[in-house]
Amino acid sequence: MIRPHRNLVTLGEFIIDKQADFPYAKGELSSLLSDISIAAKIVNREVNKAGLVNILGEAGSENIQGESQKKLDVFANEQFLAALASGGECAGVASEENDEIILFDGNASSGRYIVAMDPLDGSSNIDVNVSVGTIFSIYRRKTKNGPATVDDFLQYGSDQVAAGYIVYGSSTMLVYTTGNGVNGFTLDPSIGEFCLSHPDMRIPKGGNIYSVNQGNFVHFPEGVKRYIKNLQIDDKANKKPYTLRYIGSLVSDFHRNLIKGGIYIYPTTLSSPKGKLRLMYECNPMAMIVEQAGGKATDGFRDILEIQPTDIHQRCSLFIGSSAMVDESMDYMKQYSDANLQPTYVTSKES
Ligand code: AHG
Repeated sequence: MIRPHRNLVTLGEFIIDKQADFPYAKGELSSLLSDISIAAKIVNREVNKAGLVNILGEAGSENIQGESQKKLDVFANEQFLAALASGGECAGVASEENDEIILFDGNASSGRYIVAMDPLDGSSNIDVNVSVGTIFSIYRRKTKNGPATVDDFLQYGSDQVAAGYIVYGSSTMLVYTTGNGVNGFTLDPSIGEFCLSHPDMRIPKGGNIYSVNQGNFVHFPEGVKRYIKNLQIDDKANKKPYTLRYIGSLVSDFHRNLIKGGIYIYPTTLSSPKGKLRLMYECNPMAMIVEQAGGKATDGFRDILEIQPTDIHQRCSLFIGSSAMVDESMDYMKQYSDANLQPTYVTSKES
């Protein structure tokens, strides 16, 4: 029971309070989430200092103490890997920063979970002081003991037991779900704790924000072009034209749309025929979160969570956000895009 005598609920208290709701409650998933939140605080500290890099030394160079500077995405990767390795609940990690899966403890590994993560998404925005994020996805491993295998990672998004992100923005927030709603916690730097600030987050069914890199318009599938053109018409009754908001940092764009209502699209393009984003550590975790908040995520045709991954770094197109907006975009895709030109996947419904 969360303490009634004060309003403040920390992430640690919340996780423990909700532990009994986890499907396999043994405290390990709680520990894993705590490990992630500790690494997030360390990464937050460094991200906040990023503007000082020109004073302290460029990434790759040596600082005044003679220590070599690390790029922030490399630093973030190391912090999350160290946190996950130390707890013992995690058998291995698939990271955007590593070509191969990272396994912990070899044959002695008893961790029951595996994690897929993008330790610092949108890192090209750091130099210009724009919000970036961390995305994570947690599964129970399929093998029982010994080293985890690639097959432990190649699970449907619908098999995730938890997913979340941290947005390092004007304030730093951690948002996560364990399949029982979505809750958001804001870091209070004065006490160094994530505090419950956004309980039971729900995405509005509709919205008037769309987020897409419109510079790629000529390379978009016909369905996306027609959908976007329709959002731009002068139609006061339906609050059109809609507002375009695109930060170029998935976590930040997603977070805004989750709160205000909207759609984020990264479709296939002529230059990225399979899409740009990664299924396992970008699309799947965001899809679980949005669905838990009452929204929807598809690749334009199929539910993201039903796509069978065949590679840990597999790419995927993404249409995610308010359910009514995602549904409408899919209608356009069905009507105007040649499904034969879209990437094919095995889905859980077909297998
Ligand atoms: P990166 O981490 O290389 O900056 O990529 C960011 C991802 C995602 O966060 C963002 O929405 C998208 O790529 C932006 O891609 P474009 O620059 O092609 O719009």
